[in-house]
Amino acid sequence: MWFAVLVTQVFAALVSGAATDTLLSAVQNTDDCPSCLALLSTFQTIALTGTDAFITAFTSLCIEMGTDDPDVCTGIIGLEGPILAHDLRMINTTGQTAEKLCDALLGMCVTHPINPFTVPFPKSPPSNPKKFVSRGRPPIRVAHLSDVHIDRMYTVGSEANCTKSICCRDFPDSPAIPTEPALPNGNLHCDSPISLGDSMLEEVERLNPRFSIFTGDGKEATTDLKAFNEQMASKLSAPIFPSIGNHDTAPVNAFARSTSHTTNNSQFVFDIQSAGWEQWIGPTAAFEVDHNSGSYWAQVPGLDLRIIAVNTQYWYKQNFWLYDSDVFQPDPNGIIAFLVDALQAAEDAGDRAWIIGHIPLGKEDTMQDQSNYYDQVLQRYINTIAGQFFGHSHKDQFEIAYSNYSEQTAANAVSVGLIGPALTPSSGNPAFKFYDIDPDTFSVVDSSVIFTNLSDPEFPVRPTWGLYYSARETYGPLVGLAPDEPLSPAFWHNLTEVFAVNETAFQMFNTFISRGGAVTACDADCQNTTICDMRAFRSQNNCDTPTPGLSLRRRATASHEHDACEGSGLAYILSGMVEASRSRMSSP
Ligand SMILES: *[C@@H]1O[C@H](CO)[C@@H](O)[C@H](O)[C@H]1NC(C)=O
Ligand SMILES: *[C@@H]1O[C@H](CO)[C@@H](O)[C@H](O)[C@H]1NC(C)=O
Ligand SMILES: *[C@@H]1O[C@H](CO)[C@@H](O)[C@H](O)[C@H]1NC(C)=O
Ligand SMILES: *[C@@H]1O[C@H](CO)[C@@H](O)[C@H](O)[C@H]1NC(C)=O
Ligand SMILES: *[C@@H]1O[C@H](CO)[C@@H](O)[C@H](O)[C@H]1NC(C)=O
Ligand SMILES: *[C@@H]1O[C@H](CO)[C@@H](O)[C@H](O)[C@H]1NC(C)=O
Ligand SMILES: *[C@@H]1O[C@H](CO)[C@@H](O)[C@H](O)[C@H]1NC(C)=O
Ligand SMILES: *[C@@H]1O[C@H](CO)[C@@H](O)[C@H](O)[C@H]1NC(C)=O
Repeated sequence: MWFAVLVTQVFAALVSGAATDTLLSAVQNTDDCPSCLALLSTFQTIALTGTDAFITAFTSLCIEMGTDDPDVCTGIIGLEGPILAHDLRMINTTGQTAEKLCDALLGMCVTHPINPFTVPFPKSPPSNPKKFVSRGRPPIRVAHLSDVHIDRMYTVGSEANCTKSICCRDFPDSPAIPTEPALPNGNLHCDSPISLGDSMLEEVERLNPRFSIFTGDGKEATTDLKAFNEQMASKLSAPIFPSIGNHDTAPVNAFARSTSHTTNNSQFVFDIQSAGWEQWIGPTAAFEVDHNSGSYWAQVPGLDLRIIAVNTQYWYKQNFWLYDSDVFQPDPNGIIAFLVDALQAAEDAGDRAWIIGHIPLGKEDTMQDQSNYYDQVLQRYINTIAGQFFGHSHKDQFEIAYSNYSEQTAANAVSVGLIGPALTPSSGNPAFKFYDIDPDTFSVVDSSVIFTNLSDPEFPVRPTWGLYYSARETYGPLVGLAPDEPLSPAFWHNLTEVFAVNETAFQMFNTFISRGGAVTACDADCQNTTICDMRAFRSQNNCDTPTPGLSLRRRATASHEHDACEGSGLAYILSGMVEASRSRMSSP
């Protein structure tokens, strides 16, 4: 018996040593789609010998190459590696799923046609759709919070300039004297301390919104989800309509499909949020959260407005559970079908609806298939949908939907997704939005960003919040917005026309994106791409063409947009390895 165990161990050690070498040469050869598929095939061979062997080989190589700290390699690969190993055991490494995996991991094999799918609708559009007309009544105020990323392990005085996936925490190998000590209330390189969350919520309460929406990313792990629900409940007196973000599960991004044959699903997240949100969304919606993979709809008390919250993570390229079958699944976990049902019910009732979700659909990190199907739903229920609100990018942005994407004009602009800025200081000055809403049409009449300035010497003592800008005041005159018109899709389209010709106005927008903190320069090419992306509510229409072979890791970071300090899982680790092996080979 002991002998068999010994032999197995020796064999495992040999296999893993050899596997690491094989993996190294596959990594070194990866620079286009075929070589990426070959890399997956090598990974697959190892995964077929077992998850442990896979983790060992992948982790050893990551440590050997030194692109990340050993504990970062061990941590991320240990948590997310089993999902990749599971995927690879289930798929053909020459198929469409494998190509999509290469896209998600390394930005290779990016172009594959959209799988045609016509979303079924229970009824055709009404021949005489209900008209929602403004009576010019005073607007309702609504707060939009997003990406708070509260780090409950934030430690004042710890190292803020670290090489971990997240800083401002005490690590066993932290330097005795930090080069940059984490200050109270937050640091540019780190997620939000609890005190910053409290400070923002107190400001939201002071502004007295009729209700709030929260577009996700409290922070992963059971206790954090509960803690942020309690934090919101203790500070805000009006209802909150929350949605689930990619960071609101563990490991991050990992929402298994109901077809995945695993017990590692995110049901624990839905259970917690169902219980935690019931106080605001009511028992029926809370039941839905639990039974519809985190999605629900709820009536806003006293208004003919429904909030439909969708779990966008089943359309997110970095959710590695989406790659465990060669059978194409148009609507994982039925989220699109749920959205259709909720919108049909709203149409039947003569109510309007807002859709809220974490990940906006137009960016490069959303699956083009589901983005296209969602857009079909949007076009069908366009008379009912009065607004769409997202987060995730950590940026103050918008994406316009058109009735015909080949003819992007003001007349064809049918909807806009407004993207909320983040609280987390890692992506600019901490901020949230509030909207003035027409109580008859539920259109957005104004959108204002409220921020606190990280560079203010008073910030560590007590953050002060103030108006950063109002879209109506700042942008209205640039497009000649009439006083009685809302910030309609046509308004946002006309603004993109201004941005294309008025460099000053565009650069102002570029500064606004991060609330004047951590501004990234945007040259003419970047301006062109940025404007193209504003006109892309569908991800197939954006202009984010990744260039494989160039700065893979930067791309991996950008596809998560914010996570520079947070490591971002497998894509980050693997692209760092491929990049490092490349520069190693090119140096003499
Ligand atoms: C599922 O969870 C178990 C227990 O935490 C873990 O050992 C296993 O690796 C996980 N499997 C996947 C595919 O993530
Ligand atoms: C994988 O797909 C290729 C191309 O479609 C096919 O030739 C091959 O037989 C498949 N392999 C397996 C193991 O199914
Ligand atoms: C951050 O740490 C690096 C070394 O890890 C050091 O070179 C750099 O000067 C530090 N930055 C600051 C602002 O202290
Ligand atoms: C969409 O616009 C293109 C380009 O102008 C045009 O050729 C096409 O007919 C339009 N499609 C519809 C359905 O109107
Ligand atoms: C957008 O621009 C078009 C063409 O210049 C104009 O007809 C329309 O009134 C504008 N709409 C808004 C809302 O600014
Ligand atoms: C360009 O935008 C700036 C504000 O950003 C504004 O002051 C200026 O008048 C605009 N120029 C034109 C020609 O509209
Ligand atoms: C933040 O404060 C710094 C330092 O006082 C100042 O230079 C900067 O302009 C402020 N930023 C904004 C967006 O107000
Ligand atoms: C971006 O550049 C392309 C190619 O030069 C051009 O056709 C397009 O009109 C530009 N788009 C914008 C918004 O400037």
